[in-house]
Amino acid sequence: MPSTKLAESCTSAQRKPFAKWIQDNQDKLIARLAEAVEIPSVSGDASYRPEVHRMGKWLQDELVKLGAEIRSVPMGPQTLDGQTVELPPVLVGSLGKDPKKKTILLYGHYDVQPALLSDGWKYEPFKFTEDKETGRLYGRGSTDDKGPIMGWLNVIEAHQKTDTELPVNLKFCFEGMEESGSEGLEELVVKEAQGEFADVDAVCISDNYWLGTTTPCLTYGLRGLAYFSVSVSGPGADLHSGVFGNVVHEPMTDLFLLFSKLVTPKGEILIPGINEMVAPLTEEERKLYEVIDVTVADFESAIGGKVTISEDKAEVLMGRMRYPSLSIHGIEGAFSAQGAKTVIPASVKGKFSIRLVPDQDPDRVNELVQKYLKEEFEKLGTKSTLKVEMLSGGKPWVASIDHWNFRAAKKATETVWGKTPDYTREGGSIPITLTFAEALKKNVMLLPMGRGDDGAHSTNEKIDTSNYILGSCTLGEYLHEAAAAAEE
Ligand code: BES
Ligand code: MN
Ligand code: MN
Repeated sequence: MPSTKLAESCTSAQRKPFAKWIQDNQDKLIARLAEAVEIPSVSGDASYRPEVHRMGKWLQDELVKLGAEIRSVPMGPQTLDGQTVELPPVLVGSLGKDPKKKTILLYGHYDVQPALLSDGWKYEPFKFTEDKETGRLYGRGSTDDKGPIMGWLNVIEAHQKTDTELPVNLKFCFEGMEESGSEGLEELVVKEAQGEFADVDAVCISDNYWLGTTTPCLTYGLRGLAYFSVSVSGPGADLHSGVFGNVVHEPMTDLFLLFSKLVTPKGEILIPGINEMVAPLTEEERKLYEVIDVTVADFESAIGGKVTISEDKAEVLMGRMRYPSLSIHGIEGAFSAQGAKTVIPASVKGKFSIRLVPDQDPDRVNELVQKYLKEEFEKLGTKSTLKVEMLSGGKPWVASIDHWNFRAAKKATETVWGKTPDYTREGGSIPITLTFAEALKKNVMLLPMGRGDDGAHSTNEKIDTSNYILGSCTLGEYLHEAAAAAEE
């Protein structure tokens, strides 16, 4: 949708002054997103760490300019890529302390996934590019999760510029390590449950996406994650395969055989005990997936190929939302360059992860994985050595949608988009979500800004101008509906 047509597409109900201001000031708000995207705050790469800190400082300054009180909480040192680096700060703070108003806690992450032009991007990933023809705003972090964070800033500014009082008190929790395991955040949230977050009435996280490209959604569940590294080593150094092939046990061969025992091409996890922990599906629940407004073709277009395991929409949705999955990600130490190097790698480290659903617990899953891989390795009859480690773990989360927080978001979505949102569980993970729910004992709701085809974590990540602008209106409208919602 070309950006200039945007205001006309809006329903009259959303012509609140703040929403109108957002629509009338698109260019300024797009420039704000551009500034954020152009700070390459990649949390997973030590060489980018200063940029993550720069992004944290930039965001803190923006919030302070808008009148928020923000503490930049230092998170201590971390060892990354063999270096000791300082963890990026968590921004904790508030705007408004009116005891008569509800208090909503906003969470977002200002770090992003890595991206290189050579991965296949059309434009430099850390150079913000607006395609005026399509209205798409390209750049790493545009949808995950800088667009949504800018959305909150846009809402606050729009209220100030139109002399509109914010309808709720806001609390903030913006972190810079979400893409890399949220180190230390759980302890911080547990501590602040008695401090900064003590008066919070509900939590809103905007760090998710519509399922497809046309129907908004509200998300009430996320999968958890258990991430493993599997090291296999033997020789003291890389060897010539002509000299030592068929002389030594090869770690890479052992690793391949071991990894072939993890999952079938149809996605069935082969580790005993894992599937048994999944809560059984009821007929009732299956219906929830059948009414979701998405087609297998929508998935194929987001995937860029006709490669779904099932042709059945509900099965595809459940594969993503309510069943676990096991993905093999890569191998450290393997020969991966071009050409035909005749090497026997001396030691390799394979990485795989399992997305978890209720009632799977990362620690229990770790025990099962350790036991199974050791047994299977024994069966190989190799003299190589094996080490299995769970690098990070996060529990799954499911919320009740029968709460004013969800009803407020539903109304807001209907007002801005003229459509009833789908209720979705998501396949991805935001490990801190369950901690918010448990430590604060408050309802948590995920309100998305971007679309299913935005390409989060992928090449050519984008957000559509309409989603950025109307998504900002939705966030603002939600705050008004939350303020109006009857206390329960
Ligand atoms: N925004 C995503 C989470 C998400 C993914 C929500 C898909 C909805 C749909 C988040 O930034 C993310 O990428 N999380 C990581 C967490 C991991 C590093 C622990 C993920 O899911 O891989
Ligand atoms: Mn995210
Ligand atoms: Mn992400």
